[in-house]
Amino acid sequence: MNETLENVIVKLTAREEYTNQFIRAFGSEEITALKISLALENFMLSIVSDDSKYDRYLAGTATLTDSEERGRVLFFGEYNEFFPTTSGADCAHCHAGNNFENDLYMNNGLDTDADFIDFGREDVTSFIEDRAKFKVTSLRNIEVTGPYMHDGRFQTLEEVVGHYNANVQNSSTVDPALLGTTSTGLMLDEFEQADLINFLKTLTDNTFLTNIEYSDPF
Ligand code: HEC
Repeated sequence: MNETLENVIVKLTAREEYTNQFIRAFGSEEITALKISLALENFMLSIVSDDSKYDRYLAGTATLTDSEERGRVLFFGEYNEFFPTTSGADCAHCHAGNNFENDLYMNNGLDTDADFIDFGREDVTSFIEDRAKFKVTSLRNIEVTGPYMHDGRFQTLEEVVGHYNANVQNSSTVDPALLGTTSTGLMLDEFEQADLINFLKTLTDNTFLTNIEYSDPF
């Protein structure tokens, strides 16, 4: 927000609609950094998307189209560098679990060492082995949250899949799972790429996206 926390406190304290809300939430109108953090934390924890087509498929109340199903198999299928044309795309190697992420920082092969501009996690930990590693991103609602990657370099899911399919770069910190794909690429043809994207679109949750609780309050 290009703002200091101290000044945020000053700004909020000057507005009665906020001091009133702090009285309601915490029993006193005093606004502190801790209270702001607690309020934001609780709000963010309430933001749960669990009604996408894929969630309903898992619950047995929706059916995937043939293309979405082929994409699902590719997404979860392991990649085998000895059988690149027939093996999976191994996305779930990193984009795993209910939120399609793994709580880790990884390098997904966007650049070679010479082309790293943003050192990512290394800027936080100072460990050289964290260079150019970024949070493995949740893929929920990925259809509507472009542009993609930490620097927004890809505008479309087609570009993202094109990257993983044929443009993964070797570097000192690229994840070994992706390194195997650098010689041949995933070798997904255009139909398989479309299937994978159709699967990703089943993660769109319109109930969540149109929930008034998360709309702009101003
Ligand atoms: C080795 C781990 C790994 C694998 C395998 C992997 N990803 Fe990723 N993915 C990442 C990381 C790390 C990021 C975040 C990179 C960044 O911010 O620059 C990411 C970002 C993305 C994004 C952009 C998210 C956003 O909001 O900007 C999409 C979409 C995506 N991956 C889809 C896929 C698909 C589809 C596959 C399978 C073909 C796949 N990923 C395989 C680690 C992985």
